[in-house]
Amino acid sequence: MTTYIGNHAYTIISFNHNIQHQYMTFLYPGTFDPITKGHYDIIQKASQCFPHITIAVANNPKKKTCFTLKERMEFVQLAVKHLKHIQVIGFSNLLIDCAMEYQAQGILRGIRTMSDFEYEMQMANINRQLNPKIESILFMSSPQYTGISSSLVKEIASLGGDISHFLLPEIASALIKKWPIQP
Ligand code: COA
Repeated sequence: MTTYIGNHAYTIISFNHNIQHQYMTFLYPGTFDPITKGHYDIIQKASQCFPHITIAVANNPKKKTCFTLKERMEFVQLAVKHLKHIQVIGFSNLLIDCAMEYQAQGILRGIRTMSDFEYEMQMANINRQLNPKIESILFMSSPQYTGISSSLVKEIASLGGDISHFLLPEIASALIKKWPIQP
């Protein structure tokens, strides 16, 4: 479905055409290690469509992260501080259980490429089987962010490259401090 906000058209893919999306709270999950301008792009689009968004920062001990959960949540808070009706939480349980706990009617995800789409379809279908009442909605990344991932940004930072295009300045500084200054 395509939603128009002002002069902008946003494509929203959903699996249930009965969604009253303007009244919904959506959960936007991710590891956010760290949050990039690509994630922010999705949050900003979603915040223009939905009145409440809960950003759920995953605490998955199996995924070795550069930043602690607390740091990742603080960076997300920093990135969204000027946006209204957004809360940031941490979670370590099943995504669908977290969505129920926070009374989210749906799960929001971003897609950058076709391979993201296939992965998101799989995740959405599994989550739908776990709880058919919770829908997944996908927002397409803006073209300038389709190549970004948190790992790539970390790799560039570790090799002394310029990461200012991808991260907020405060987050970029924190990331640079993770590696010793190159001789
Ligand atoms: N802009 C920039 N980068 C983006 C992006 C965007 N719009 N969307 C995704 N990415 C990047 C992320 O930075 C991340 O990069 P990295 O792998 O280099 O760190 C990568 O794409 C993958 O992101 P994502 O798909 O969000 O994975 P994730 O690991 O951040 O989060 C969870 C996945 C937390 C949502 C998922 O593992 C989960 O639900 N876990 C809970 C347990 C559970 O319920 N499991 C069953 C799920 S069906």
